[in-house]
Amino acid sequence: MLLLTGGAGYIGSHTAVELLDRGHRVVVLDNLVNSSVEAVRRVEKITGQQVPLVVGDCTDREVVERVFAEHDIEAVVHFAGLKAVGESVSQPLRYYRNNLDALLTLAEAMDAAGVRDLVFSSSATVYGDPETVPIAEPSALRVTNPYGATKLFGERILEDLTAASPDWRITLLRYFNPVGAHPSGLIGEDPNDIPNNLFPYISKVAAGRLPELNVFGDDYDTPDGTGVRDYLHVVDLARGHVAALDHLGDQEGLEVFNLGTGTGTSVLEAVRHFEEACGHPIPYRVGPRRDGDIATCFADPGKANRQLGWRAEHTVAQACADAWRWQSANPDGYA
Ligand code: NAD
Ligand code: WQD
Repeated sequence: MLLLTGGAGYIGSHTAVELLDRGHRVVVLDNLVNSSVEAVRRVEKITGQQVPLVVGDCTDREVVERVFAEHDIEAVVHFAGLKAVGESVSQPLRYYRNNLDALLTLAEAMDAAGVRDLVFSSSATVYGDPETVPIAEPSALRVTNPYGATKLFGERILEDLTAASPDWRITLLRYFNPVGAHPSGLIGEDPNDIPNNLFPYISKVAAGRLPELNVFGDDYDTPDGTGVRDYLHVVDLARGHVAALDHLGDQEGLEVFNLGTGTGTSVLEAVRHFEEACGHPIPYRVGPRRDGDIATCFADPGKANRQLGWRAEHTVAQACADAWRWQSANPDGYA
């Protein structure tokens, strides 16, 4: 049995499907601060399998210890965390408390239960504004906001843990920009309020729920002047977790892998792909740059290709088609 903390969320729910489809059993621990029970029910619908859901907080030692006592857990994927960059700047204590306390409480409970195989959701945000692209794992780490700092500190805590205790096997996965939805249209990204990220924002504009996209700057040093990112289909990302878990048994200590496609796409290219998917123009207006944004960020996924045997298989166009299917079938998300 695998424990997925934050398994009701966007990436966790898609990962649950891929794991269940390959014969793994999973239990989800989620406080539903940014997700809903319905996501877990939909995972059950897609896979035809039952997914026990423990509604509880990873910072609650009693709850976490009970999960290990009541389920035969072999390994954990720790998705649970708060992830909105802007919110982390205005609520730093909440972000540090939640993300670091969740990791520490989980790791202590794992250690006490003798479960020492862990996959951790990290982020390309730990590279900050990179000196060169594509970004490989040894690149310098520097963060520019409290959210990013929680990921960098989380990585550091786990490095120190594996250095001190060689029986831990830990994989840090640095995700680039996850987008799209499951091709069934049953699960997808369901942000509260107005989306911060490009793809969910475009989806809402395409659906007529928001009037137009604000393109944050067209004067970057990129081919069309808009920001370039590595948009990774969430199903590919989910399969990256399957590959990481499969590899964990042969691993010693800690390993870090970028999960990205290796290709950059600009904001305007993303808009064009989405227009193709939804069949009508997406209104947009170019405005000022967003504070803290960088020009270009894309992965060198070579290490994951070679060592995990994993590579992204979906195109950005497919991600747009799947995001649009999810948006059209669920205009109010899981509500
Ligand atoms: P999400 O918000 O959809 O999922 C996170 C889940 O964690 C939610 O279901 C939330 O309710 C739960 N959660 C938060 N704090 C919790 C706590 N203390 N106890 C129990 N549950 C808690 O986000 P996601 O996009 O699925 O991201 C999953 C992980 O991947 C996060 O750690 C995030 O920081 C990381 N990540 C996400 C992205 C991205 O762009 N989506 C990129 C890089 C890394
Ligand atoms: C993508 C591009 C924007 C919205 C963030 C986090 C990162 C990681 C992934 C968790 C940029 C432009 C966006 C809009 C726009 N999350 N944009 N109009 O900033 O690359 O990464 O999510 O770890 O840590 O920082 O993603 O989707 O917000 O932006 O023009 O309304 O779209 O300027 O070029 P980002 P994003």
